[in-house]
Amino acid sequence: MQTPSGHPVDPAPGVRLVVLASGGGSNLAALLSAHDDAAYGARVVGVVSDKPDAGALDLARDAGVASVAVAPGEFPDRGAWNAGLAEAVEVFRPDWVVLAGFMRILAPEFLARFPGRVVNTHPALLPSFPGAHGVRDALAYGVRVTGCTVHVVDDGVDTGPIVAQAAVPVLDGDDEASLHERIKVAERSLLVETVGRVAREGLRVDGRRTSLG
Ligand code: GAR
Repeated sequence: MQTPSGHPVDPAPGVRLVVLASGGGSNLAALLSAHDDAAYGARVVGVVSDKPDAGALDLARDAGVASVAVAPGEFPDRGAWNAGLAEAVEVFRPDWVVLAGFMRILAPEFLARFPGRVVNTHPALLPSFPGAHGVRDALAYGVRVTGCTVHVVDDGVDTGPIVAQAAVPVLDGDDEASLHERIKVAERSLLVETVGRVAREGLRVDGRRTSLG
């Protein structure tokens, strides 16, 4: 079987991860560093972006992981794009879909194709500061502690059940860029550890409460 870009679909055994990313992909890079260790228990088998020029796609190519861009501009409407995106992801037969800096809202129709199997990393301590500007909004509010959250994706914007969080202090003199860089350091560790545990141990969701193992 082949991906839309003509790559063979990675047949490797183990838990299969498809990563969706819009940007530079430092979180993806952390997952790619972890997945070569068989003990990690999960492999990134595909990377999908909404942006054909996303750095994340270059990282995937460099790591020998199949990748594809599914740009909204190539579809007549949001529904068609979501359907196209779901098809591109489904080709990789993912056990889990990981949103790592994916800056678009997924439609319920997309999520229904991977029920309870989509997780997202967000650069704030949810439920505070959801949305596209979590770091900026936390800084503007004046919080002294912010951080990052890995959560299951539901139909809302960053509203799904929380799996793991890490706190990061806001320092005097921080601007959005400096704070985001420190959050990303914590975020990469949290994402790699949490996704690995989800893959190896499984994730149970009971209402808003989640448990690993
Ligand atoms: C990460 O901080 C991620 O949490 C954030 O984008 C960054 C991507 O960095 N996502 C969101 O803000 C989603 N609302 P990366 O491309 O270097 O992994």
